Amino acid sequence: MSNTIQKNLDYKKYVVSSKLQYFKPHATKIQKTFAEEISYSLNRDSKFIDPKYFYDNKGSDLFKKICSLPEYYPTRTEISILKQLRDELPSYLDEHFRLVELGSGTSVKTRLILDILVKLQDTIEYFPIDISEILTESSEQLLKDYDRLHITGLIDTYEDGLKFLKTFDDKKNLIIFLGSSFGNFSPNDGYKFLQKINSTMKHGDLFLIGLDLVKDKQILESAYDDSQGVTAKFNLNILSRINDELDADFYLKNFSHYVIYNEEEQRIEMYLKSLVNQSVMVSKSNLLFNLEKDELILTEHSHKYKLSQISKLLHSTGFKIKHTWLDNNNHFSLTLASKN
Ligand code: AVI
Repeated sequence: MSNTIQKNLDYKKYVVSSKLQYFKPHATKIQKTFAEEISYSLNRDSKFIDPKYFYDNKGSDLFKKICSLPEYYPTRTEISILKQLRDELPSYLDEHFRLVELGSGTSVKTRLILDILVKLQDTIEYFPIDISEILTESSEQLLKDYDRLHITGLIDTYEDGLKFLKTFDDKKNLIIFLGSSFGNFSPNDGYKFLQKINSTMKHGDLFLIGLDLVKDKQILESAYDDSQGVTAKFNLNILSRINDELDADFYLKNFSHYVIYNEEEQRIEMYLKSLVNQSVMVSKSNLLFNLEKDELILTEHSHKYKLSQISKLLHSTGFKIKHTWLDNNNHFSLTLASKN
């Protein structure tokens, strides 16, 4: 363990118990990046906020609520596919695998995979990587229910988490990236990210990715603009977070949640629309900027895929597809791949 710490000097290690430890970058690292990124992304004509900043504690709670909304089909659909995997995944798990999860996700999904591993292995190791501290709470909950489980968590971005994992040890990994979180990357960043996952993997490692599929515009738009307004709250919460953490003065009533499905680009586009002409100060980013009435701040792209695009994408980033599972309506996909 001491070697590991030396290799990862930017991280502080927290040992909660003999079964739970987690690593977290030094606070100054996170703080500096957030302030700098906001100073860049709001000080330009086409303004945006990186969606990774949605997930403070409040944002993570709101996202959990989104996952059980009637309109938000991805979570329950992916869960229904994961249930199919109970009988079929074991044939691909010939040895001892550690479960690595990018985004610790809803524990329902993690549990479905852990339930499979419990039947195959004496000990189960889980390595969640998540930007949100909520990781520690969900880990403690998992430990209550799985007595042979050991958890090493990493509170960081996926990219830095993968870098960390690569130098951590040589254990065999089943890396899962569920919920179509991949769809929130731009195509270019997504491509590079898959290459990064691929280069983190050793031969024999496996990768399971959940991706949302192209479908009717109506279904897509209502999934991101729900009737209870939870997604609107989730979107606006990013401004509260900037207010709290970067000493800004966004007045939330001056913004509305705005969503469209861009058919050509195959993506949901989520924005915060300025309802008035206004100026906003973000003290810790040294930024004072103006917004015109109806001006949009992009907060998220959520790409949707055709099966042919998924296989092209995975092949071109160095993967070999083992199997793809779908739900009955062909709304969502789970693909298992190895390093080619
Ligand atoms: C996390 N991610 C996959 C969600 C999505 O569907 O793109 C985030 C989300 N945004 C609004 N609703 C859900």
